[in-house]
Amino acid sequence: MKPNVYITRKLPLPVVEKIKEVCEVRMWDEEDIPVPKEVLEKEIENVDGLYCLLTESIDKELLSKANNLKVISNMAVGYNNIDVDAASGKGILVTNTPGVLTETTADLTFALMMAAGRRLVEASDYLKAGKWKTWSPMMLTGQDMYGATLGIIGLGRIGESVAKRAKGFDMDVLYYNRSRKKEAEEELGIHYRDLETLLKESDFVCVLTPYTPETENLIGKEQLALMKSSAVLVNTARGGIVNEGDLYHALKSGEIFAAGLDVFKEEPISLDHPLLTLPNVVVLPHIGSASKKTRMNMANLAADNLLQGVERKTPKHLVNKHVIEEGLSY
Ligand code: DGY
Repeated sequence: MKPNVYITRKLPLPVVEKIKEVCEVRMWDEEDIPVPKEVLEKEIENVDGLYCLLTESIDKELLSKANNLKVISNMAVGYNNIDVDAASGKGILVTNTPGVLTETTADLTFALMMAAGRRLVEASDYLKAGKWKTWSPMMLTGQDMYGATLGIIGLGRIGESVAKRAKGFDMDVLYYNRSRKKEAEEELGIHYRDLETLLKESDFVCVLTPYTPETENLIGKEQLALMKSSAVLVNTARGGIVNEGDLYHALKSGEIFAAGLDVFKEEPISLDHPLLTLPNVVVLPHIGSASKKTRMNMANLAADNLLQGVERKTPKHLVNKHVIEEGLSY
């Protein structure tokens, strides 16, 4: 008998076909609306595998309804939407999609630094609104990236790729990470700083750390106050790492120069959110990994992880390895 799996969003057909070769598939196929909680609660009861997105909250309560679940495959590198401890407690494997989205997300991080620092969206809106009357010496002037100091918070794969790009702009690259990475320091010519010093010294600060209870509100009032008034903050990790209320005040009062945000505490961000009223913030709808090639790679990788999990093989990108190592798997 084929294993049963549930897919929480309409996926590209070749990916669904690949899963169907091995599994009985049920899929939430409403175009781009997250699966309602009640539907997921029912579907999870008897499936062997769940293929989900970062829009689904896979919490303890939901997992308590799963009777056969062996693997949860998240189509994202971040997995803060899943209660991994609760899954591990039930012997359920949790997988993610690292690696394939690194360069695409680093590209977007760089694009946001430039867009916010050089006021690209504001300038484009200015032109379209018919405000461009003449070339003028200080019109829409921003911050240089070339030769500036970049501070990377969280030196994972994406952080390292951003550092490589920064070298091409002759930037001095600083990083803060839970653990020091001496090899990367040598290889990339980058320097470790504690968070406080990094914030004080950087012209551009990129948030690229995973979202965990420890990193929640890592950047708030106190940290923003340390930054230069010419500094640009970019967040392409998760919204909850930066306190949005504090960021609003820092941007509004000129405590920092600008921000580029791809992620928000609540997604989609409400259209009446105060941050959206500011000219010095560039906002994007969580598209860090959104190139056609990368999203296909992520979808395929998540499918492979799912299939390995339901076939009782060790998935390539397993988050809770100890479940297998300690023989706890379902
Ligand atoms: C992830 O993978 O965690 C991103 O936020 C979406 O690509």
